[in-house]
Amino acid sequence: MALDTHAMSPGLEGVPIAQSAISLVDGEAGQLYYRGYSIEELTAQCRFEEVVALLFDGELPDAGRLAEITEQLEAGRALSDGQIELARQAAKLAHPMFALQGAIAALGPKRNDFDQRQEDFPGAAERGIQLIGQVGHLTGVLAQAVAGRPYEGPRPGEAHAAMMLRMLTGAEPSALHERTMNALLILQADHSAGNASTFTTRVVTSTKADPVTAISAAVGALSGPAHGGANEASLRLFMDIGSPARAEADVNRMLAERAKIPGFGHRVYRVKDPRSAVIQRLAGEVITRQRERDLYDIALTVERVVGDRLGPRGLWPNVDLFSGCVFAALDIPIDFFTPCFAASRTAGWVVHMKEQLESGNRIFRPSQIWSGADPRPMARSLA
Ligand SMILES: CC(C)(COP(=O)(O)OP(=O)(O)OC[C@H]1O[C@@H](n2cnc3c(N)ncnc32)[C@H](O)[C@@H]1OP(=O)(O)O)[C@@H](O)C(=O)NCCC(=O)NCCS
Repeated sequence: MALDTHAMSPGLEGVPIAQSAISLVDGEAGQLYYRGYSIEELTAQCRFEEVVALLFDGELPDAGRLAEITEQLEAGRALSDGQIELARQAAKLAHPMFALQGAIAALGPKRNDFDQRQEDFPGAAERGIQLIGQVGHLTGVLAQAVAGRPYEGPRPGEAHAAMMLRMLTGAEPSALHERTMNALLILQADHSAGNASTFTTRVVTSTKADPVTAISAAVGALSGPAHGGANEASLRLFMDIGSPARAEADVNRMLAERAKIPGFGHRVYRVKDPRSAVIQRLAGEVITRQRERDLYDIALTVERVVGDRLGPRGLWPNVDLFSGCVFAALDIPIDFFTPCFAASRTAGWVVHMKEQLESGNRIFRPSQIWSGADPRPMARSLA
Protein backbone atom coordinates (compact mmCIF):
# COMPACT_ATOMS: atom_id res chain seq x y z
CA MET A 1 0.00 0.00 0.00
CA ALA A 2 1.66 3.30 -1.11
CA LEU A 3 0.06 6.32 0.53
CA ASP A 4 2.47 8.77 -1.05
CA THR A 5 3.96 8.26 -4.48
CA HIS A 6 6.15 11.36 -4.72
CA ALA A 7 9.80 10.73 -5.60
CA MET A 8 12.09 11.01 -2.59
CA SER A 9 15.37 12.91 -2.56
CA PRO A 10 17.56 11.49 0.22
CA GLY A 11 19.03 14.33 2.22
CA LEU A 12 16.71 16.64 0.22
CA GLU A 13 19.51 16.93 -2.36
CA GLY A 14 18.56 19.50 -4.98
CA VAL A 15 15.29 20.43 -3.24
CA PRO A 16 15.03 24.21 -2.60
CA ILE A 17 13.68 24.83 0.91
CA ALA A 18 13.53 28.62 0.78
CA GLN A 19 13.89 31.66 -1.40
CA SER A 20 16.79 33.52 0.17
CA ALA A 21 18.80 36.69 -0.46
CA ILE A 22 21.35 36.30 2.34
CA SER A 23 24.29 34.29 1.05
CA LEU A 24 25.10 32.55 -2.20
CA VAL A 25 27.17 29.37 -2.47
CA ASP A 26 28.45 28.86 -6.02
CA GLY A 27 29.47 25.20 -5.85
CA GLU A 28 30.86 24.99 -9.38
CA ALA A 29 33.05 28.10 -9.22
CA GLY A 30 33.94 27.65 -5.52
CA GLN A 31 32.69 31.07 -4.42
CA LEU A 32 30.76 32.28 -1.39
CA TYR A 33 29.09 35.70 -1.22
CA TYR A 34 27.21 37.43 1.60
CA ARG A 35 24.69 39.86 0.11
CA GLY A 36 26.81 39.96 -3.06
CA TYR A 37 30.21 40.52 -1.43
CA SER A 38 32.86 37.80 -1.61
CA ILE A 39 34.10 36.27 1.63
CA GLU A 40 37.65 37.00 0.50
CA GLU A 41 36.92 40.75 0.54
CA LEU A 42 34.77 40.64 3.67
CA THR A 43 37.34 38.74 5.75
CA ALA A 44 40.16 41.02 4.56
CA GLN A 45 38.36 44.33 5.13
CA CYS A 46 35.56 44.07 7.70
CA ARG A 47 34.92 43.62 11.37
CA PHE A 48 32.46 40.96 12.46
CA GLU A 49 30.07 43.70 13.66
CA GLU A 50 29.98 45.18 10.11
CA VAL A 51 29.16 41.79 8.64
CA VAL A 52 26.34 41.31 11.16
CA ALA A 53 24.89 44.62 9.91
CA LEU A 54 25.40 43.53 6.30
CA LEU A 55 23.63 40.23 6.86
CA PHE A 56 20.68 41.91 8.56
CA ASP A 57 20.34 44.99 6.34
CA GLY A 58 21.56 43.77 2.95
CA GLU A 59 24.03 46.68 2.77
CA LEU A 60 27.33 47.45 4.45
CA PRO A 61 26.71 49.86 7.35
CA ASP A 62 27.69 53.52 7.41
CA ALA A 63 29.39 54.79 10.58
CA GLY A 64 26.07 55.54 12.30
CA ARG A 65 24.57 52.11 11.63
CA LEU A 66 27.80 50.38 12.67
CA ALA A 67 27.80 52.28 15.96
CA GLU A 68 24.15 51.35 16.49
CA ILE A 69 24.60 47.62 15.85
CA THR A 70 27.80 47.51 17.92
CA GLU A 71 25.90 49.07 20.81
CA GLN A 72 23.00 46.61 20.38
CA LEU A 73 25.39 43.64 20.37
CA GLU A 74 27.14 44.93 23.46
CA ALA A 75 23.91 45.58 25.35
CA GLY A 76 22.37 42.32 24.13
CA ARG A 77 25.19 40.06 25.26
CA ALA A 78 24.47 40.58 28.97
CA LEU A 79 23.72 37.40 30.95
CA SER A 80 22.12 37.13 34.38
CA ASP A 81 23.97 35.54 37.29
CA GLY A 82 21.64 32.53 37.01
CA GLN A 83 22.35 32.07 33.30
CA ILE A 84 26.09 32.24 33.94
CA GLU A 85 25.88 29.78 36.83
CA LEU A 86 23.74 27.35 34.82
CA ALA A 87 26.25 27.44 31.93
CA ARG A 88 29.17 26.85 34.29
CA GLN A 89 27.39 23.85 35.79
CA ALA A 90 26.54 22.46 32.34
CA ALA A 91 30.20 22.80 31.34
CA LYS A 92 31.09 20.27 34.05
CA LEU A 93 28.58 17.71 32.76
CA ALA A 94 28.83 17.67 28.99
CA HIS A 95 30.89 18.47 25.90
CA PRO A 96 30.87 22.27 25.48
CA MET A 97 28.73 21.96 22.37
CA PHE A 98 26.01 20.12 24.30
CA ALA A 99 26.42 22.45 27.26
CA LEU A 100 26.07 25.41 24.88
CA GLN A 101 22.86 23.98 23.45
CA GLY A 102 21.38 23.64 26.94
CA ALA A 103 22.60 27.03 28.12
CA ILE A 104 21.06 28.74 25.09
CA ALA A 105 17.72 26.98 25.62
CA ALA A 106 17.74 28.22 29.21
CA LEU A 107 18.12 31.88 28.17
CA GLY A 108 14.34 32.13 28.28
CA PRO A 109 11.91 33.85 28.15
CA LYS A 110 9.66 32.30 30.78
CA ARG A 111 6.56 32.53 28.61
CA ASN A 112 6.12 30.46 25.46
CA ASP A 113 4.26 33.14 23.53
CA PHE A 114 6.66 34.44 20.88
CA ASP A 115 3.94 34.17 18.26
CA GLN A 116 1.57 36.47 20.14
CA ARG A 117 4.33 38.96 20.95
CA GLN A 118 5.41 39.27 17.33
CA GLU A 119 2.75 41.13 15.37
CA ASP A 120 5.67 42.73 13.50
CA PHE A 121 9.16 41.44 12.92
CA PRO A 122 11.58 44.10 14.19
CA GLY A 123 11.30 42.23 17.49
CA ALA A 124 12.81 39.17 15.82
CA ALA A 125 15.80 41.25 14.69
CA GLU A 126 16.30 42.57 18.21
CA ARG A 127 16.17 39.06 19.67
CA GLY A 128 18.53 37.91 16.91
CA ILE A 129 21.18 40.53 17.69
CA GLN A 130 20.83 39.78 21.38
CA LEU A 131 21.37 36.06 20.69
CA ILE A 132 24.54 36.70 18.64
CA GLY A 133 25.97 38.58 21.63
CA GLN A 134 24.78 36.03 24.18
CA VAL A 135 26.01 32.93 22.32
CA GLY A 136 29.50 34.45 21.94
CA HIS A 137 29.48 35.36 25.62
CA LEU A 138 28.20 31.90 26.69
CA THR A 139 30.98 30.22 24.69
CA GLY A 140 33.48 32.19 26.76
CA VAL A 141 31.64 31.37 30.02
CA LEU A 142 31.85 27.65 29.25
CA ALA A 143 35.57 27.85 28.41
CA GLN A 144 36.33 29.63 31.67
CA ALA A 145 34.40 26.97 33.62
CA VAL A 146 36.11 24.05 31.84
CA ALA A 147 39.53 25.59 32.51
CA GLY A 148 38.61 26.17 36.18
CA ARG A 149 38.91 29.94 35.80
CA PRO A 150 36.52 32.34 37.55
CA TYR A 151 33.92 34.15 35.48
CA GLU A 152 35.25 37.36 33.96
CA GLY A 153 32.70 38.80 31.57
CA PRO A 154 32.73 41.17 28.61
CA ARG A 155 34.32 44.57 29.10
CA PRO A 156 32.67 47.81 28.02
CA GLY A 157 33.59 48.63 24.42
CA GLU A 158 35.20 45.23 23.81
CA ALA A 159 34.70 43.92 20.27
CA HIS A 160 32.97 40.57 19.85
CA ALA A 161 36.11 38.79 18.53
CA ALA A 162 38.30 40.18 21.33
CA MET A 163 35.75 39.27 24.02
CA MET A 164 35.43 35.71 22.78
CA LEU A 165 39.16 35.15 22.41
CA ARG A 166 40.00 36.60 25.83
CA MET A 167 37.32 34.53 27.56
CA LEU A 168 38.21 31.36 25.60
CA THR A 169 41.95 31.51 26.24
CA GLY A 170 42.27 33.45 29.51
CA ALA A 171 44.85 35.75 27.90
CA GLU A 172 44.75 39.22 26.35
CA PRO A 173 44.66 38.63 22.58
CA SER A 174 47.35 40.16 20.38
CA ALA A 175 46.21 42.36 17.48
CA LEU A 176 47.05 39.51 15.06
CA HIS A 177 45.03 36.97 17.04
CA GLU A 178 42.05 39.32 17.31
CA ARG A 179 42.19 39.98 13.55
CA THR A 180 42.32 36.24 12.87
CA MET A 181 39.38 35.52 15.21
CA ASN A 182 37.45 38.29 13.53
CA ALA A 183 38.08 36.71 10.11
CA LEU A 184 37.05 33.25 11.38
CA LEU A 185 33.82 34.69 12.79
CA ILE A 186 33.04 36.33 9.44
CA LEU A 187 34.03 33.31 7.40
CA GLN A 188 31.65 30.94 9.17
CA ALA A 189 28.78 33.39 9.70
CA ASP A 190 26.54 32.05 6.95
CA HIS A 191 26.36 29.42 4.24
CA SER A 192 22.95 29.71 2.53
CA ALA A 193 19.61 28.35 3.70
CA GLY A 194 20.16 24.66 2.96
CA ASN A 195 22.95 23.62 5.32
CA ALA A 196 21.64 21.33 8.07
CA SER A 197 21.81 23.76 10.99
CA THR A 198 20.35 26.73 9.10
CA PHE A 199 17.61 24.49 7.73
CA THR A 200 16.99 23.40 11.33
CA THR A 201 16.65 27.06 12.35
CA ARG A 202 14.09 27.56 9.60
CA VAL A 203 12.13 24.42 10.50
CA VAL A 204 11.89 25.42 14.18
CA THR A 205 11.06 29.02 13.22
CA SER A 206 8.29 27.75 10.96
CA THR A 207 6.48 26.40 14.04
CA LYS A 208 6.47 30.00 15.41
CA ALA A 209 8.63 28.84 18.31
CA ASP A 210 10.72 31.28 20.28
CA PRO A 211 14.05 32.29 18.63
CA VAL A 212 15.97 30.82 21.54
CA THR A 213 14.74 27.32 20.68
CA ALA A 214 15.56 27.76 16.99
CA ILE A 215 19.18 28.63 17.84
CA SER A 216 19.49 25.93 20.47
CA ALA A 217 18.22 23.32 17.98
CA ALA A 218 20.65 24.63 15.34
CA VAL A 219 23.55 24.15 17.77
CA GLY A 220 22.52 20.50 18.10
CA ALA A 221 22.48 20.09 14.33
CA LEU A 222 25.88 21.76 13.98
CA SER A 223 27.49 19.48 16.57
CA GLY A 224 27.44 16.43 14.29
CA PRO A 225 30.72 15.31 12.66
CA ALA A 226 29.10 15.47 9.21
CA HIS A 227 28.54 19.20 9.84
CA GLY A 228 30.36 21.59 12.20
CA GLY A 229 31.80 18.83 14.38
CA ALA A 230 34.23 18.06 11.55
CA ASN A 231 36.60 20.86 12.64
CA GLU A 232 37.24 19.08 15.94
CA ALA A 233 37.28 15.65 14.27
CA SER A 234 39.88 16.68 11.67
CA LEU A 235 42.30 18.08 14.25
CA ARG A 236 41.86 14.98 16.41
CA LEU A 237 42.71 12.89 13.33
CA PHE A 238 45.88 14.94 12.71
CA MET A 239 46.86 14.56 16.38
CA ASP A 240 46.34 10.78 16.13
CA ILE A 241 48.44 10.62 12.95
CA GLY A 242 51.13 12.48 14.88
CA SER A 243 53.65 13.26 12.15
CA PRO A 244 53.54 14.31 8.47
CA ALA A 245 55.60 11.19 7.59
CA ARG A 246 52.78 8.91 8.79
CA ALA A 247 49.94 10.85 7.18
CA GLU A 248 49.99 9.18 3.77
CA ALA A 249 49.88 5.59 5.08
CA ASP A 250 47.24 6.37 7.73
CA VAL A 251 44.92 8.13 5.32
CA ASN A 252 45.31 5.42 2.67
CA ARG A 253 44.35 2.84 5.29
CA MET A 254 41.27 4.90 6.26
CA LEU A 255 40.25 5.19 2.62
CA ALA A 256 40.69 1.42 2.16
CA GLU A 257 38.34 0.96 5.14
CA ARG A 258 35.90 3.36 3.45
CA ALA A 259 36.11 5.75 6.41
CA LYS A 260 35.02 9.34 5.89
CA ILE A 261 37.93 11.75 6.14
CA PRO A 262 36.81 14.77 8.20
CA GLY A 263 37.30 18.04 6.36
CA PHE A 264 36.65 16.51 2.93
CA GLY A 265 33.58 16.55 0.73
CA HIS A 266 30.58 18.80 0.43
CA ARG A 267 27.06 18.51 -0.92
CA VAL A 268 27.34 21.72 -2.95
CA TYR A 269 31.02 22.42 -3.70
CA ARG A 270 32.50 20.46 -6.57
CA VAL A 271 35.82 22.28 -6.18
CA LYS A 272 37.86 23.33 -3.15
CA ASP A 273 35.71 25.18 -0.60
CA PRO A 274 36.62 28.91 -0.89
CA ARG A 275 36.60 29.17 2.90
CA SER A 276 39.53 26.76 3.14
CA ALA A 277 41.61 29.06 0.92
CA VAL A 278 40.89 31.96 3.29
CA ILE A 279 41.69 29.74 6.30
CA GLN A 280 45.00 28.81 4.67
CA ARG A 281 45.85 32.51 4.25
CA LEU A 282 45.13 32.96 7.98
CA ALA A 283 47.17 29.85 8.82
CA GLY A 284 50.16 31.34 6.99
CA GLU A 285 49.93 34.44 9.21
CA VAL A 286 49.08 32.98 12.59
CA ILE A 287 50.86 29.61 12.85
CA THR A 288 54.23 30.24 14.47
CA ARG A 289 54.79 27.31 16.85
CA GLN A 290 56.26 23.96 15.79
CA ARG A 291 53.28 22.01 17.19
CA GLU A 292 50.75 23.74 14.93
CA ARG A 293 53.23 23.73 12.03
CA ASP A 294 53.38 19.93 12.28
CA LEU A 295 49.58 19.63 12.46
CA TYR A 296 49.26 21.93 9.45
CA ASP A 297 51.85 19.86 7.53
CA ILE A 298 49.78 16.77 8.28
CA ALA A 299 46.68 18.59 7.00
CA LEU A 300 48.51 19.49 3.79
CA THR A 301 49.57 15.85 3.30
CA VAL A 302 45.99 14.70 3.90
CA GLU A 303 44.83 17.25 1.32
CA ARG A 304 47.32 15.92 -1.26
CA VAL A 305 46.70 12.21 -0.66
CA VAL A 306 42.91 12.38 -0.37
CA GLY A 307 42.71 14.95 -3.16
CA ASP A 308 44.62 12.62 -5.53
CA ARG A 309 42.25 9.78 -4.69
CA LEU A 310 38.90 11.55 -4.35
CA GLY A 311 39.38 14.80 -6.28
CA PRO A 312 38.42 13.16 -9.59
CA ARG A 313 35.09 12.29 -7.90
CA GLY A 314 34.52 15.93 -6.95
CA LEU A 315 35.58 15.59 -3.30
CA TRP A 316 37.84 18.41 -2.12
CA PRO A 317 38.77 20.05 1.20
CA ASN A 318 35.96 21.91 2.96
CA VAL A 319 36.24 24.63 5.60
CA ASP A 320 36.98 22.12 8.35
CA LEU A 321 40.19 20.58 7.00
CA PHE A 322 42.35 23.53 8.02
CA SER A 323 40.23 25.55 10.47
CA GLY A 324 41.26 23.42 13.48
CA CYS A 325 44.95 24.27 12.90
CA VAL A 326 44.08 27.98 13.04
CA PHE A 327 41.86 27.63 16.13
CA ALA A 328 44.73 25.72 17.80
CA ALA A 329 47.21 28.48 16.87
CA LEU A 330 44.88 30.93 18.66
CA ASP A 331 45.12 28.72 21.80
CA ILE A 332 41.44 27.83 21.63
CA PRO A 333 40.90 24.42 23.31
CA ILE A 334 39.92 21.69 20.83
CA ASP A 335 36.48 21.07 22.43
CA PHE A 336 35.66 24.71 21.70
CA PHE A 337 36.28 24.68 17.93
CA THR A 338 32.67 23.74 17.16
CA PRO A 339 31.17 26.10 19.79
CA CYS A 340 33.19 28.91 18.15
CA PHE A 341 31.72 27.88 14.80
CA ALA A 342 28.26 28.02 16.44
CA ALA A 343 28.89 31.48 17.86
CA SER A 344 29.85 32.67 14.42
CA ARG A 345 26.99 30.91 12.60
CA THR A 346 24.44 32.33 15.07
CA ALA A 347 24.65 35.49 12.94
CA GLY A 348 23.48 33.60 9.88
CA TRP A 349 20.90 31.57 11.79
CA VAL A 350 19.13 34.61 13.23
CA VAL A 351 19.05 36.42 9.88
CA HIS A 352 17.56 33.30 8.27
CA MET A 353 15.05 33.19 11.12
CA LYS A 354 14.02 36.77 10.28
CA GLU A 355 13.85 36.03 6.55
CA GLN A 356 11.76 32.93 7.26
CA LEU A 357 9.32 34.96 9.40
CA GLU A 358 9.08 37.72 6.80
CA SER A 359 8.56 35.47 3.81
CA GLY A 360 5.24 33.87 4.65
CA ASN A 361 6.59 31.32 7.12
CA ARG A 362 4.50 28.32 6.21
CA ILE A 363 5.15 25.47 8.62
CA PHE A 364 7.54 22.80 7.23
CA ARG A 365 5.57 19.62 6.86
CA PRO A 366 7.08 17.33 4.21
CA SER A 367 5.62 13.91 3.55
CA GLN A 368 6.96 10.37 3.66
CA ILE A 369 6.90 7.29 1.48
CA TRP A 370 5.23 4.58 3.49
CA SER A 371 7.22 1.36 3.73
CA GLY A 372 5.48 -0.32 6.68
CA ALA A 373 2.75 -2.88 7.15
CA ASP A 374 -0.64 -2.62 5.48
CA PRO A 375 -3.50 -1.85 7.88
CA ARG A 376 -4.49 -5.13 9.62
CA PRO A 377 -6.75 -6.31 12.44
CA MET A 378 -5.28 -7.15 15.83
CA ALA A 379 -5.18 -10.93 16.15
CA ARG A 380 -4.57 -10.90 19.91
CA SER A 381 -7.61 -11.82 21.98
CA LEU A 382 -8.38 -9.74 25.04
CA ALA A 383 -7.73 -11.68 28.26
C1 LIG B 1 29.97 16.73 3.89
C2 LIG B 1 29.29 15.39 3.65
C3 LIG B 1 28.39 15.08 4.87
C4 LIG B 1 28.43 15.48 2.39
O1 LIG B 1 27.65 14.33 2.33
P1 LIG B 1 26.82 13.90 1.03
O2 LIG B 1 26.63 15.04 0.12
O3 LIG B 1 25.62 13.20 1.52
O4 LIG B 1 27.80 12.91 0.29
P2 LIG B 1 27.91 11.34 0.56
O5 LIG B 1 28.19 11.08 2.02
O6 LIG B 1 26.72 10.66 -0.02
O7 LIG B 1 29.20 11.01 -0.26
C5 LIG B 1 29.21 10.69 -1.65
C6 LIG B 1 30.35 9.71 -1.88
O8 LIG B 1 31.60 10.33 -1.55
C7 LIG B 1 32.22 9.63 -0.45
N1 LIG B 1 32.70 10.63 0.50
C8 LIG B 1 32.09 11.80 0.83
N2 LIG B 1 32.81 12.46 1.73
C9 LIG B 1 33.89 11.71 1.98
C10 LIG B 1 34.97 11.86 2.85
N3 LIG B 1 35.09 12.95 3.64
N4 LIG B 1 35.91 10.90 2.89
C11 LIG B 1 35.80 9.82 2.11
N5 LIG B 1 34.78 9.59 1.25
C12 LIG B 1 33.83 10.54 1.20
C13 LIG B 1 31.10 8.81 0.19
O9 LIG B 1 31.60 7.67 0.86
C14 LIG B 1 30.26 8.46 -1.01
O10 LIG B 1 30.90 7.42 -1.70
P3 LIG B 1 30.06 6.26 -2.43
O11 LIG B 1 29.27 6.97 -3.51
O12 LIG B 1 31.11 5.34 -2.95
O13 LIG B 1 29.17 5.66 -1.38
C15 LIG B 1 30.34 14.26 3.49
O14 LIG B 1 31.19 14.60 2.41
C16 LIG B 1 31.15 14.02 4.75
O15 LIG B 1 30.69 13.28 5.64
N6 LIG B 1 32.35 14.65 4.87
C17 LIG B 1 33.17 14.49 6.07
C18 LIG B 1 32.64 15.37 7.20
C19 LIG B 1 32.89 16.82 6.95
O16 LIG B 1 33.98 17.26 6.64
N7 LIG B 1 31.84 17.65 7.18
C20 LIG B 1 31.93 19.09 7.08
C21 LIG B 1 31.16 19.60 5.92
S1 LIG B 1 31.39 21.33 5.72
